[in-house]
Amino acid sequence: LTAPQSPMTEEARAFFQQAADDVAQPQKLYLAPSVLSADFGCLREALEDIRLGGAPWVHLDVMDGHFVPNLTIGAPVIKALRKYSQQVFDAHLMISNPEDFLQDFADAGCDRLTVHYEASEDPKALVQKIRELGMLPGITIKPNTPVDVVEPLLDDVALVLVMSVEPGFGGQKFMPAALDKIAQLDAWRKSRQLDFVIEVDGGIDEKTLPPVIEAGADAVVIGSSVFKTPDPVQTMRQFNKQLQALEEKRNAG
Ligand code: DX5
Ligand code: ZN
Repeated sequence: LTAPQSPMTEEARAFFQQAADDVAQPQKLYLAPSVLSADFGCLREALEDIRLGGAPWVHLDVMDGHFVPNLTIGAPVIKALRKYSQQVFDAHLMISNPEDFLQDFADAGCDRLTVHYEASEDPKALVQKIRELGMLPGITIKPNTPVDVVEPLLDDVALVLVMSVEPGFGGQKFMPAALDKIAQLDAWRKSRQLDFVIEVDGGIDEKTLPPVIEAGADAVVIGSSVFKTPDPVQTMRQFNKQLQALEEKRNAG
């Protein structure tokens, strides 16, 4: 989290302190709204909605038209948005040659940077470099990539992102095969006493959210089920309530 650049209210300050505290508690559940499904002409307003909705993370989908068949935003846009938000910037790089751009994303103010296993010949070096640059590294796998490939990286990453749709587009249907991957990651995390966050991305709505959390995920990316609703702020508050109930259930069990 970076220091506020404009005068903040007490309420905003308390909110951001809470968001910062949350980062230190890996077992909490995090809502990570994806601005991919917001109006790209009004991204600043989307960030304000996320703040009012009480979501601690902002998920930023970076696509290059090469690794995935779609183009979105890059480091310059993230850098421009940084000054309007104090939430955790959780960037998901869907680009080829991610190693060429790590410094740019660090300079843009990303707190977390997640790269695709499939996009790199040396994922271990890549995640180590991300950490050296002061960001929390994540590794992610496409639906057809077996979860076993990330096992040797678990000591090095702060987060594993399980894709529950083919990366490239919002609004796709959740693929239930992601649940077994989440459960396997959670089992490794427990047996090796690690504390990486398990995040899931794609097709999450109020129906797919419970099984994802029950399988062991801690962070949920939600795009269209937030920003394609008439009142995204209320929708995020509703998702937060659902997450709170699921968290209580998890702690009780
Ligand atoms: C897809 C992106 C997702 C996307 C999810 O490539 O990684 O973050 O925004 O959108 P929904 O929630 O609509 O599936
Ligand atoms: Zn994403």
